[in-house]
Amino acid sequence: MTNISSLLQPRTVLLVTSFADGIHDVATFSFVTPISFKPQLLAFSIGHARYTKELIEKNPECVINVSTKEMLDDALYCGTRTGRNTDKYEKIEWEESSKVKPRRIKKSPVQLECKVKKVIPAGDHNIVLCEVVLEHVKTMDYTPLMHVSGNEFATPTSLKKE
Ligand SMILES: Cc1cc2nc3c(=O)[nH]c(=O)nc-3n(C[C@H](O)[C@H](O)[C@H](O)COP(=O)(O)O)c2cc1C
Repeated sequence: MTNISSLLQPRTVLLVTSFADGIHDVATFSFVTPISFKPQLLAFSIGHARYTKELIEKNPECVINVSTKEMLDDALYCGTRTGRNTDKYEKIEWEESSKVKPRRIKKSPVQLECKVKKVIPAGDHNIVLCEVVLEHVKTMDYTPLMHVSGNEFATPTSLKKE
């Protein structure tokens, strides 16, 4: 069968930050969906081996940062090495969050501070269910970065029916 992620694309690219045991991490995710308006819930899917998963299980908090077209290199950088042996923040600019310990990514126009409600095993991944406790939405024009597959990315084209 065809890999399902290459059939359901393009997808929003997020940088998810985490923190536990004095260590800050940031990694790239595109298996993501909004779930509920009240409360504001969203979910992303995380592989078992990700260091982010380990940190989130120790401290159930994260910040979901939306990536822009200009953040393509950052998304590839954070999505191709693990925080287990790399301090990705040597290359990625950040700012303090208000309600959670994981950091916000400075270049990101939408930063959602979240509490993790559940981590649910699902096949070779896990569903991470998050509640947004504080949103930071910067008033700027930006082009969201979308993931197609592998090293292929896209930007959205707006279609409005009159
Ligand atoms: C564009 C892109 C999208 C990705 N999406 C996901 C995803 O949705 N789920 C996942 O588990 N890993 C995803 N990855 C892989 C992780 O970002 C990668 O394994 C990263 O090294 C994990 O870092 P960590 O070990 O510090 O958590 C993606 C990578 C890229 C480049």
